[in-house]
Amino acid sequence: MRSADVPPRRLTCEDSAVTASGTDASATRHPGLSESPFLVAARGGTPSHTPVWFMRQAGRSLPEYLKVREGIGMLESCMDADLVTEITLQPVRRYGVDAAIFFSDIVLPLKAVGVDLDIKPGVGPVVASPVRTLADVEAIPDLTDEHVPFISQAVRQLVAELGATPLIGFAGAPFTVASYLVEGGPSKEHAKTKAMMFGAPDVWDALMRKIAGIAAAYLRIQVEAGASAVQLFDSWAGALTPADYRASVMPHSERVLASAGELVVPRIHFGVGTTNLLGLMGEAGADVVGVDWRTPLEQAIPLVGDRVVQGNLDPTLVFAPTDVMTARAAEVIEAGRAAKGHIFNLGHGVIPSTNPDQLTALTEFVHGY
Ligand code: CP3
Repeated sequence: MRSADVPPRRLTCEDSAVTASGTDASATRHPGLSESPFLVAARGGTPSHTPVWFMRQAGRSLPEYLKVREGIGMLESCMDADLVTEITLQPVRRYGVDAAIFFSDIVLPLKAVGVDLDIKPGVGPVVASPVRTLADVEAIPDLTDEHVPFISQAVRQLVAELGATPLIGFAGAPFTVASYLVEGGPSKEHAKTKAMMFGAPDVWDALMRKIAGIAAAYLRIQVEAGASAVQLFDSWAGALTPADYRASVMPHSERVLASAGELVVPRIHFGVGTTNLLGLMGEAGADVVGVDWRTPLEQAIPLVGDRVVQGNLDPTLVFAPTDVMTARAAEVIEAGRAAKGHIFNLGHGVIPSTNPDQLTALTEFVHGY
């Protein structure tokens, strides 16, 4: 969509890295895609402008989203390829952001394999029978293409519509998804989850392997259908000490990221409250490390080392006057210059009461800075 803005750039060997080989998607890939600012930045190159997209850019902050979702449940809408396509495109049309993120949810693959769960408005994912035993883990089927035909279809439709704008596929990381499965719903302390991790390592290991396999398959399906980057959301990993993360969680996220790496797409790894974990989250196999707004980029960049950073404007700054918001955005962009590369984003998802006009102003500001 934005290929006209991108000046021609000499191809490098790195550019082939965005083409997932051996899939029908590579045949339909837009020629401008590999030079899109988002993919250039994600590979550590020099983009024509700082790329920007927003976590949760689709969703309740957009009146056009509320309109198409009327009377349709969250999970139901995630399983309708045409609706997914429309909702994913809405923020790209409105803001002219540099990437689309596939509209789905981290628990969708669990729903697709038959786990009895729902997403309750204002609450989040709720699981009917929380996972507590090895038998509970073994009862969860592995994810295959046949479980999610609507995902492949939506991705193919999106890639055709998006042209030179990349589509980011995503999955929930094993720890964050495990938290919903074990707690049975959203949780502040993740106490039952961590109790399993500390007290029943065999059950924990089996559960983490199960979820890692599902996440890896979910990412593969999205990339094979045409997604050009992936983000692994470990939103609640910040609840862990570095030692526990390294011993009980990181190997499983590593497996998911390694499997995505075989598909030769840039991998973004994001969590909330992860100052202590940023180094490990990079080492787990990320090309880009997402940083939440609590950690200044100046502090985050040395921790992630030779990796691209993504982030990290405080999502509540959209409620400040536009000039206050953009002044803070300028500080984020300036701080990002010390990194190998920088993709501008909020430090967590768009808050539903956000005025979309502020995100339009923010996108324009980042592009013009
Ligand atoms: O970023 C995007 O635009 C893509 C869509 C997306 C959704 N969920 C849609 C959604 C993504 C990337 C997610 C991931 C997700 N889901 C995460 C990781 C990202 C993060 O925010 O840390 C987590 C932890 C979840 C679990 C979940 N699903 C929560 C906490 C909620 C919110 C509950 C609520 O109502 O406040 C959901 C539901 C959900 N997922 C909504 C959307 C747009 C809201 C449901 C609705 O619109 O009715």
